[in-house]
Amino acid sequence: MSKKNDRALRFYDEVLGLDRLHYGLWLPDDDLTFEKLKLAQIRYEDYLVEKLPSTVKSVLDVGCGTGILVKKLLDQSYLAEGLSPDINQKKRFEEALNAPFHHMPFEELSIEDTFDCIIMSESCQYIKLDKLFKNAKRALKAHGYLMICDYFVLNNAEGELSKSGHRYDEFMNRIDQEGFSVVVEEDLTQDVTKTLDLGKDFVEKSMKALSIGTERIRSKHPQLSKFVLWLFKNKIAKATKQTDLLDSDKFKQYKSYRFILLQANS
Ligand SMILES: C[S@@+](CC[C@H](N)C(=O)[O-])C[C@H]1O[C@@H](n2cnc3c(N)ncnc32)[C@H](O)[C@@H]1O
Repeated sequence: MSKKNDRALRFYDEVLGLDRLHYGLWLPDDDLTFEKLKLAQIRYEDYLVEKLPSTVKSVLDVGCGTGILVKKLLDQSYLAEGLSPDINQKKRFEEALNAPFHHMPFEELSIEDTFDCIIMSESCQYIKLDKLFKNAKRALKAHGYLMICDYFVLNNAEGELSKSGHRYDEFMNRIDQEGFSVVVEEDLTQDVTKTLDLGKDFVEKSMKALSIGTERIRSKHPQLSKFVLWLFKNKIAKATKQTDLLDSDKFKQYKSYRFILLQANS
Protein backbone atom coordinates (compact mmCIF):
# COMPACT_ATOMS: atom_id res chain seq x y z
CA MET A 1 0.00 0.00 0.00
CA SER A 2 1.39 3.42 -0.89
CA LYS A 3 1.53 5.81 2.05
CA LYS A 4 1.42 9.47 1.14
CA ASN A 5 2.70 12.51 2.93
CA ASP A 6 1.14 15.41 1.04
CA ARG A 7 3.29 18.49 1.69
CA ALA A 8 0.95 20.97 -0.03
CA LEU A 9 -1.85 19.90 2.27
CA ARG A 10 0.48 20.09 5.28
CA PHE A 11 1.35 23.66 4.23
CA TYR A 12 -2.34 24.70 4.33
CA ASP A 13 -2.84 22.91 7.58
CA GLU A 14 0.34 23.62 9.54
CA VAL A 15 1.46 26.98 8.07
CA LEU A 16 -1.82 28.70 7.16
CA GLY A 17 -3.74 27.04 10.00
CA LEU A 18 -6.44 25.82 7.62
CA ASP A 19 -7.59 22.40 8.76
CA ARG A 20 -10.10 22.44 5.93
CA LEU A 21 -8.68 21.54 2.54
CA HIS A 22 -11.35 22.73 0.12
CA TYR A 23 -12.16 25.96 -1.72
CA GLY A 24 -15.35 26.89 0.11
CA LEU A 25 -18.47 28.66 -1.14
CA TRP A 26 -18.08 32.45 -0.97
CA LEU A 27 -20.78 35.09 -0.93
CA PRO A 28 -20.48 37.74 -3.67
CA ASP A 29 -19.76 40.57 -1.18
CA ASP A 30 -17.22 38.69 0.96
CA ASP A 31 -13.89 40.47 1.61
CA LEU A 32 -10.71 38.58 0.84
CA THR A 33 -9.80 37.50 4.37
CA PHE A 34 -8.90 34.18 5.97
CA GLU A 35 -11.87 34.60 8.34
CA LYS A 36 -14.24 34.79 5.35
CA LEU A 37 -12.49 31.79 3.80
CA LYS A 38 -13.17 29.73 6.92
CA LEU A 39 -16.85 30.75 6.80
CA ALA A 40 -16.99 29.89 3.10
CA GLN A 41 -15.54 26.47 3.88
CA ILE A 42 -18.11 25.82 6.61
CA ARG A 43 -20.87 26.95 4.20
CA TYR A 44 -19.58 24.41 1.68
CA GLU A 45 -19.65 21.56 4.22
CA ASP A 46 -23.25 22.46 5.16
CA TYR A 47 -24.12 22.50 1.47
CA LEU A 48 -22.77 18.96 0.96
CA VAL A 49 -24.67 17.59 3.96
CA GLU A 50 -27.90 19.30 2.82
CA LYS A 51 -27.51 17.67 -0.58
CA LEU A 52 -27.49 14.13 0.86
CA PRO A 53 -30.64 12.30 -0.24
CA SER A 54 -33.00 11.63 2.69
CA THR A 55 -32.56 7.84 2.44
CA VAL A 56 -28.80 8.05 3.14
CA LYS A 57 -27.67 6.79 6.54
CA SER A 58 -24.10 5.58 6.01
CA VAL A 59 -21.35 7.60 4.30
CA LEU A 60 -17.77 6.90 3.27
CA ASP A 61 -15.80 10.14 2.91
CA VAL A 62 -13.10 9.34 0.35
CA GLY A 63 -10.10 11.67 0.63
CA CYS A 64 -11.41 12.78 4.01
CA GLY A 65 -8.58 15.20 4.85
CA THR A 66 -8.43 15.92 8.56
CA GLY A 67 -11.92 14.49 9.16
CA ILE A 68 -13.94 17.72 9.44
CA LEU A 69 -16.80 16.48 7.25
CA VAL A 70 -16.90 13.09 8.96
CA LYS A 71 -17.24 14.91 12.29
CA LYS A 72 -20.12 17.00 10.96
CA LEU A 73 -21.84 13.86 9.67
CA LEU A 74 -21.39 12.01 12.97
CA ASP A 75 -22.75 15.04 14.82
CA GLN A 76 -25.86 14.79 12.64
CA SER A 77 -26.26 11.08 13.45
CA TYR A 78 -25.00 9.66 10.16
CA LEU A 79 -22.76 6.59 10.23
CA ALA A 80 -19.57 8.01 8.73
CA GLU A 81 -16.11 6.64 7.97
CA GLY A 82 -13.04 8.23 6.40
CA LEU A 83 -10.51 7.06 3.82
CA SER A 84 -7.24 8.64 2.77
CA PRO A 85 -3.76 7.45 1.77
CA ASP A 86 -2.14 10.29 3.74
CA ILE A 87 -0.26 9.36 6.90
CA ASN A 88 -0.60 12.80 8.57
CA GLN A 89 -4.34 12.87 7.92
CA LYS A 90 -4.65 9.40 9.45
CA LYS A 91 -2.98 10.70 12.61
CA ARG A 92 -5.14 13.85 12.78
CA PHE A 93 -8.33 11.91 12.08
CA GLU A 94 -7.66 9.24 14.69
CA GLU A 95 -6.70 11.82 17.33
CA ALA A 96 -9.90 13.79 16.80
CA LEU A 97 -12.53 11.17 16.00
CA ASN A 98 -13.82 7.88 17.21
CA ALA A 99 -14.72 6.58 13.76
CA PRO A 100 -13.13 4.09 11.33
CA PHE A 101 -10.34 5.45 9.15
CA HIS A 102 -9.23 3.43 6.11
CA HIS A 103 -5.63 4.16 5.27
CA MET A 104 -5.38 3.46 1.54
CA PRO A 105 -5.72 5.07 -1.87
CA PHE A 106 -9.24 4.56 -3.22
CA GLU A 107 -7.75 2.73 -6.20
CA GLU A 108 -6.59 0.03 -3.75
CA LEU A 109 -9.88 -0.18 -1.89
CA SER A 110 -10.10 -3.19 0.41
CA ILE A 111 -13.18 -2.57 2.57
CA GLU A 112 -15.83 -5.23 2.92
CA ASP A 113 -18.59 -2.88 4.15
CA THR A 114 -20.91 -1.07 1.79
CA PHE A 115 -22.37 2.45 2.17
CA ASP A 116 -25.44 4.42 1.10
CA CYS A 117 -23.27 7.24 -0.17
CA ILE A 118 -19.63 7.91 -1.03
CA ILE A 119 -18.50 11.53 -0.87
CA MET A 120 -15.48 12.74 -2.84
CA SER A 121 -14.97 16.33 -1.79
CA GLU A 122 -12.11 17.69 -3.90
CA SER A 123 -10.53 14.25 -3.93
CA CYS A 124 -12.02 12.94 -7.17
CA GLN A 125 -9.27 14.67 -9.17
CA TYR A 126 -6.62 12.48 -7.49
CA ILE A 127 -8.33 9.17 -8.22
CA LYS A 128 -7.66 7.36 -11.48
CA LEU A 129 -10.81 7.16 -13.59
CA ASP A 130 -10.50 3.48 -14.44
CA LYS A 131 -10.80 2.59 -10.73
CA LEU A 132 -12.99 5.45 -9.51
CA PHE A 133 -16.36 4.22 -10.72
CA LYS A 134 -15.61 0.51 -10.37
CA ASN A 135 -14.49 0.78 -6.74
CA ALA A 136 -17.35 3.18 -5.96
CA LYS A 137 -19.79 0.55 -7.26
CA ARG A 138 -18.13 -2.08 -5.03
CA ALA A 139 -18.35 0.09 -1.91
CA LEU A 140 -21.95 1.22 -2.48
CA LYS A 141 -25.16 -0.53 -1.55
CA ALA A 142 -27.61 -1.17 -4.42
CA HIS A 143 -28.69 2.17 -5.95
CA GLY A 144 -26.27 4.00 -3.66
CA TYR A 145 -25.06 7.55 -4.31
CA LEU A 146 -21.70 8.95 -5.34
CA MET A 147 -21.38 12.63 -4.44
CA ILE A 148 -18.56 14.50 -6.17
CA CYS A 149 -17.56 18.10 -5.70
CA ASP A 150 -14.41 19.14 -7.51
CA TYR A 151 -12.94 21.04 -10.42
CA PHE A 152 -12.66 19.60 -13.90
CA VAL A 153 -10.54 20.62 -16.88
CA LEU A 154 -12.30 22.03 -19.94
CA ASN A 155 -11.26 21.10 -23.48
CA ASN A 156 -9.77 24.52 -24.28
CA ALA A 157 -7.40 24.39 -21.27
CA GLU A 158 -3.70 25.01 -21.72
CA GLY A 159 -0.61 25.57 -19.55
CA GLU A 160 -0.44 24.83 -15.83
CA LEU A 161 -4.22 24.87 -15.45
CA SER A 162 -4.65 21.93 -17.80
CA LYS A 163 -2.52 19.65 -15.64
CA SER A 164 -4.70 18.80 -12.65
CA GLY A 165 -8.25 17.50 -12.62
CA HIS A 166 -10.18 15.09 -14.81
CA ARG A 167 -11.30 16.24 -18.26
CA TYR A 168 -14.92 17.31 -17.80
CA ASP A 169 -16.23 15.82 -21.07
CA GLU A 170 -14.44 12.54 -20.61
CA PHE A 171 -15.72 12.26 -17.04
CA MET A 172 -19.34 13.01 -17.94
CA ASN A 173 -19.27 10.65 -20.92
CA ARG A 174 -18.13 7.82 -18.72
CA ILE A 175 -20.91 8.03 -16.13
CA ASP A 176 -23.47 6.11 -18.14
CA GLN A 177 -21.12 3.40 -19.35
CA GLU A 178 -19.93 2.83 -15.75
CA GLY A 179 -23.52 2.18 -14.60
CA PHE A 180 -24.40 5.49 -12.90
CA SER A 181 -26.96 8.23 -13.61
CA VAL A 182 -26.75 11.93 -12.89
CA VAL A 183 -29.24 12.99 -10.20
CA VAL A 184 -28.07 16.59 -9.66
CA GLU A 185 -25.42 18.71 -11.30
CA GLU A 186 -24.52 22.29 -10.38
CA ASP A 187 -21.84 24.62 -11.66
CA LEU A 188 -20.23 26.29 -8.61
CA THR A 189 -17.26 27.87 -10.40
CA GLN A 190 -18.30 31.45 -9.62
CA ASP A 191 -18.80 30.62 -5.93
CA VAL A 192 -15.33 29.16 -5.27
CA THR A 193 -12.81 31.32 -7.10
CA LYS A 194 -12.39 33.95 -4.38
CA THR A 195 -10.18 31.37 -2.69
CA LEU A 196 -7.74 31.80 -5.57
CA ASP A 197 -7.94 35.60 -5.30
CA LEU A 198 -7.15 35.32 -1.59
CA GLY A 199 -4.21 32.97 -2.32
CA LYS A 200 -2.83 35.34 -4.95
CA ASP A 201 -3.17 38.32 -2.64
CA PHE A 202 -1.35 36.39 0.10
CA VAL A 203 1.53 35.39 -2.23
CA GLU A 204 1.90 38.94 -3.60
CA LYS A 205 1.99 40.44 -0.11
CA SER A 206 4.51 37.83 1.06
CA MET A 207 6.78 38.53 -1.96
CA LYS A 208 6.60 42.25 -1.21
CA ALA A 209 7.49 41.65 2.44
CA LEU A 210 10.42 39.47 1.35
CA SER A 211 11.60 42.14 -1.08
CA ILE A 212 11.44 44.89 1.60
CA GLY A 213 13.12 42.58 4.13
CA THR A 214 16.06 41.81 1.83
CA GLU A 215 16.46 45.37 0.42
CA ARG A 216 19.49 46.17 2.61
CA ILE A 217 21.29 42.94 1.79
CA ARG A 218 20.64 43.45 -1.93
CA SER A 219 21.99 47.01 -1.97
CA LYS A 220 25.02 46.08 0.17
CA HIS A 221 25.91 42.93 -1.79
CA PRO A 222 24.59 43.40 -5.37
CA GLN A 223 26.92 40.79 -6.92
CA LEU A 224 26.06 38.17 -4.33
CA SER A 225 22.34 38.90 -4.81
CA LYS A 226 22.65 38.44 -8.57
CA PHE A 227 24.48 35.17 -8.02
CA VAL A 228 21.80 33.88 -5.66
CA LEU A 229 19.09 34.86 -8.17
CA TRP A 230 20.95 33.01 -10.91
CA LEU A 231 21.36 29.97 -8.66
CA PHE A 232 17.63 29.80 -8.08
CA LYS A 233 16.53 30.85 -11.56
CA ASN A 234 14.86 27.50 -12.35
CA LYS A 235 12.98 27.47 -9.07
CA ILE A 236 11.89 31.11 -9.60
CA ALA A 237 10.71 30.34 -13.16
CA LYS A 238 8.75 27.35 -11.84
CA ALA A 239 7.20 29.43 -9.03
CA THR A 240 6.23 32.16 -11.54
CA LYS A 241 4.52 29.54 -13.74
CA GLN A 242 2.71 28.18 -10.70
CA THR A 243 1.20 31.58 -9.89
CA ASP A 244 -0.98 30.97 -12.98
CA LEU A 245 -2.75 28.43 -10.77
CA LEU A 246 -3.99 31.32 -8.62
CA ASP A 247 -5.38 33.32 -11.54
CA SER A 248 -9.15 33.18 -11.06
CA ASP A 249 -9.91 34.48 -14.58
CA LYS A 250 -7.88 31.68 -16.12
CA PHE A 251 -9.52 29.20 -13.76
CA LYS A 252 -12.97 30.33 -14.96
CA GLN A 253 -11.80 30.07 -18.57
CA TYR A 254 -10.17 26.62 -18.36
CA LYS A 255 -11.84 24.84 -15.47
CA SER A 256 -15.27 24.14 -14.13
CA TYR A 257 -15.99 23.50 -10.45
CA ARG A 258 -18.94 21.13 -10.18
CA PHE A 259 -21.23 19.50 -7.70
CA ILE A 260 -22.32 16.17 -9.19
CA LEU A 261 -24.59 13.68 -7.45
CA LEU A 262 -24.69 10.28 -9.14
CA GLN A 263 -26.75 7.21 -8.38
CA ALA A 264 -25.74 3.64 -9.17
CA ASN A 265 -28.16 2.04 -11.64
CA SER A 266 -28.14 -1.26 -9.77
C1 LIG B 1 -7.84 18.69 -1.45
S1 LIG B 1 -7.91 17.43 -0.23
C2 LIG B 1 -9.61 17.45 0.19
C3 LIG B 1 -9.82 16.98 1.59
C4 LIG B 1 -11.27 16.96 2.09
N1 LIG B 1 -12.10 16.05 1.33
C5 LIG B 1 -11.84 18.32 2.06
O1 LIG B 1 -12.80 18.56 1.31
O2 LIG B 1 -11.35 19.18 2.81
C6 LIG B 1 -7.71 15.95 -1.18
C7 LIG B 1 -7.87 14.66 -0.37
O3 LIG B 1 -7.76 13.55 -1.24
C8 LIG B 1 -6.88 12.60 -0.67
N2 LIG B 1 -6.35 11.73 -1.73
C9 LIG B 1 -5.31 11.94 -2.57
N3 LIG B 1 -5.14 10.89 -3.39
C10 LIG B 1 -6.10 9.98 -3.06
C11 LIG B 1 -6.44 8.67 -3.52
N4 LIG B 1 -5.76 8.10 -4.51
N5 LIG B 1 -7.46 8.02 -2.94
C12 LIG B 1 -8.17 8.61 -1.94
N6 LIG B 1 -7.90 9.85 -1.45
C13 LIG B 1 -6.88 10.52 -2.00
C14 LIG B 1 -5.86 13.47 0.05
O4 LIG B 1 -5.10 12.74 0.97
C15 LIG B 1 -6.80 14.47 0.70
O5 LIG B 1 -7.39 13.93 1.84
